[in-house]
Amino acid sequence: MRLKFLPSFVKRRGRITKKQEENLKNLSIFTLEDMNDLQEECTKFSSCCLEIGFGNAENISQQALSNPEVLFIGSEVYMPGIGTLLGNIKESNIKNVRIFPNDIRILLDKNPIEIFDAIKIICPDPWPKERHHKRRLINNDFLKMLNNSMKTNAYLYISTDWENYAESIAEILNNSKFFKSSTKKFLEKERLSKFEKRGEDHGRHIFKFNYQKIN
Ligand SMILES: C[S@@+](CC[C@H](N)C(=O)[O-])C[C@H]1O[C@@H](n2cnc3c(N)ncnc32)[C@H](O)[C@@H]1O
Repeated sequence: MRLKFLPSFVKRRGRITKKQEENLKNLSIFTLEDMNDLQEECTKFSSCCLEIGFGNAENISQQALSNPEVLFIGSEVYMPGIGTLLGNIKESNIKNVRIFPNDIRILLDKNPIEIFDAIKIICPDPWPKERHHKRRLINNDFLKMLNNSMKTNAYLYISTDWENYAESIAEILNNSKFFKSSTKKFLEKERLSKFEKRGEDHGRHIFKFNYQKIN
C-alpha cells in the first residue's frame, strides 16, 4: 500500500530470534484491526492508553502488567519488537494489550473517535540530519491527528534524547492550540526504554514532555 505520509521509520527486519518468530505466529490473536475494533475492546476496560513505537516493549509490558484495568494499544512496525511483546504477553499472561503492527497514522488518519485517555511516544526516531527532519513523526499534522483521537484532558507524553528534536517538539507543543503543559501524568514510568538507556549511557539528557489535551 502506498502511504500518503513520509515514512517516519526505516523498515528494519533486524535480527529476529527463533523465539520471536515463534511468538509472531500469535500476532493475529492480538492484532487491532481498526477503530471499530478498538471501540469494542475499550468497553471492557476503564481507560485506554496508546504507545506509539514501543520498540522492545519494555514500557508497555511493565505498564500493562501493573495496570490490568487499563487497555494498552501498542503500535510498532519493528517485527523483533512485536515478537518480544508477544512473548511477554504469553509469559506473564497479560490480557490488556492489543497491537497495531503498522504505521500508527494509518489507524489515526481521519479517525472521528475521541477514544484515548493517554498517548505515549518514547524516543521517536530522531532523524538527526537536517534534510531528514521532514520525516520526524512529531509535527503539526501529527499533533492534529493525535488531538482528534484523544478525550478532553487526555495525557500526552513524549520523550527524546536528541536536543535538536526536543527544541522542535517544544516549539510545536507550545504553539499548539490543542495541548497545554501539565504536571500530571497518566501513569508513572518505572523503567527506562532501550533508547532512553542508550541516550543516558552516551551522556545525553532525556527531554520529557507532559501535556494534556485542552478540549
Ligand atoms: C528510536 S525507536 C524507540 C523505541 C522505544 N520507544 C524505545 O524508546 O526504546 C522508535 C520506534 O518507533 C517506531 N516507529 C516510527 N514511526 C512509527 C510509526 N509511524 N508508527 C508506529 N511505529 C513507529 C520505529 O519502528 C522504532 O521502533
